[in-house]
Amino acid sequence: MNIAIVGSSRGIGLSLVRTLVREGHNVYAFCRSLNADLAESGCAQIIQDFDVSNEHSIHMGVKQLDGIKIDWLFHVAGIMRKDNVDSFSEEDLFDHIRVNTVGPVRTILALAGNMGAGSKAGVISSRMGSIMDNESGDFLSFRISKTALNMALVNLAKKLKEAHISVFSLHPGYVKTQITGFEGEIEPDLAAQRLVKLMAELELKDSGTFWHANGSQLPW
Ligand SMILES: NC(=O)c1ccc[n+]([C@@H]2O[C@H](COP(=O)([O-])OP(=O)(O)OC[C@H]3O[C@@H](n4cnc5c(N)ncnc54)[C@H](OP(=O)(O)O)[C@@H]3O)[C@@H](O)[C@H]2O)c1
Repeated sequence: MNIAIVGSSRGIGLSLVRTLVREGHNVYAFCRSLNADLAESGCAQIIQDFDVSNEHSIHMGVKQLDGIKIDWLFHVAGIMRKDNVDSFSEEDLFDHIRVNTVGPVRTILALAGNMGAGSKAGVISSRMGSIMDNESGDFLSFRISKTALNMALVNLAKKLKEAHISVFSLHPGYVKTQITGFEGEIEPDLAAQRLVKLMAELELKDSGTFWHANGSQLPW
């Protein structure tokens, strides 16, 4: 398969690249800047200067895949800064929305031309975007951005279903990466393996649903 990974420089994205290359797929890795880990990953093509918060950079990056059909897209890029009702700032909220919400929407829309019947887009959202699941009330901007992302993904799923393209919202688990200060329950490689298995299992009839990488469906 031809598989695009957006946000491939480290963490879950880099583990997805390595896992899928090992499985023999053609991996198209999108990143803001190249590093040694990604350069040595064996992917088919690396698309640099791809900033999901910048429309022009998305446009220029996607152009490099002209004529290539994408079977799977994993949109992984995201940011998380800790805030709460006391430290809330509009600037922080808009930063999160620009990267975590607008970024994946723009990327999917830009790459939709490379996708066709049977293609799947898996976007790494977060269980913290689940309204039902909010126990702490912390991480206000991050939660808002991922909840909005979940709504956007349902909209995209409904529209893209006409072209037989499916869209899924995926939670990777609590993973030891830079975003969590390397705290967590699992390593990025295990998260990547679980996400790949889940993507393979999900079908067009499941499009517009929200899943934990461990295979359980999540409430909105
Ligand atoms: N780790 C967890 O426990 C956990 C739980 C739930 C959800 N998630 C989600 O999983 C995703 C991946 O996070 P991670 O855990 O692998 O963290 P990470 O190691 O911090 O990776 C974040 C990735 O996003 C990229 N990125 C950030 N801003 C970007 C932008 N404007 N344009 C393009 N790329 C950008 C980073 O690239 P640079 O190297 O260029 O910064 C990096 O590749 C995020 O969406 C996060 O919300 C993670």
